[in-house]
Amino acid sequence: MTNILLSGCSGKMGRVIASLVNEDENAQIVGGIDLIDDSSLPFPVFSSPDKVDVEADVIIDFSHPSCLEGIMDYAAKNHIPAVICTTGLTPEQKAYMASKATETAVFFSANMSLGVNVIIDLAKRATNVLEDNFDIEILEAHHNRKLDAPSGTALYIADAINEAAKEKKEYIYDRHSVRKKRDKNEIGIHAIRGGTIVGEHTVIFAGNDEIIELKHTALSRDVFAEGAIAAAKFMAGKKNGMYDMNDLISSR
Ligand SMILES: NC(=O)c1ccc[n+]([C@@H]2O[C@H](COP(=O)([O-])OP(=O)(O)OC[C@H]3O[C@@H](n4cnc5c(N)ncnc54)[C@H](O)[C@@H]3O)[C@@H](O)[C@H]2O)c1
Repeated sequence: MTNILLSGCSGKMGRVIASLVNEDENAQIVGGIDLIDDSSLPFPVFSSPDKVDVEADVIIDFSHPSCLEGIMDYAAKNHIPAVICTTGLTPEQKAYMASKATETAVFFSANMSLGVNVIIDLAKRATNVLEDNFDIEILEAHHNRKLDAPSGTALYIADAINEAAKEKKEYIYDRHSVRKKRDKNEIGIHAIRGGTIVGEHTVIFAGNDEIIELKHTALSRDVFAEGAIAAAKFMAGKKNGMYDMNDLISSR
């Protein structure tokens, strides 16, 4: 049985996790952390990590970047592995998270869906073959309540393409501010916000008279929640260090 502490338990993702774990005989939520104390949740809700008085094997965090430091300090002090799924972290916050991985096990992925991680693998392979003659653009679409733009996943895809590329690419977010032709050596990243779109990511390789598109559409939040629960089970009892989706996938 994996005992989970759920940070952001009253939010959209927190509720999906709580309902999936409720059906799971190998996991249970022992407590939540959230500013909103929703009494309909079947576990105690604490307003911050320092108020938590239950014992957990692992923390899942789908909250807000401002919660990161408190969650990491709590995880490190109590040696509890943390699965960090919150996006929009600054480079300094990512560095802080990595520094705490010397004291506890930390899993981070800007996208917890298996499908997105397959798209990233395909995009890297396409980059190896096409980068000299094709322009690469990334398009992402999300619901109208999302705070960060572009999405953490769009940047995650761009970083993976850059890793695979022979020549390092510059990220261009805002074409309207500069009036000049597209440079060969860039990746355009574009965000759409509207309605209840759960999450769409398209990588476009545009060449002379041919276009390749790799597209992932999340139809419900379950895909991220299932990945996070699988990561939590994988991380319980792990030794200190940074882990990501590649570790989870290769463990299967
Ligand atoms: N990695 C992934 O695959 C993935 C998938 C979906 C969402 N996300 C990210 O997860 C995060 C949460 O997404 P969501 O859609 O559930 O958002 P949400 O706004 O619905 O929920 C966030 C919850 O965190 C709580 N919260 C905010 N600040 C807090 C604080 N200081 N202390 C305690 N609780 C606080 C809010 O009260 C809320 O209940 C976002 O960063 C989102 O981009 C990641």
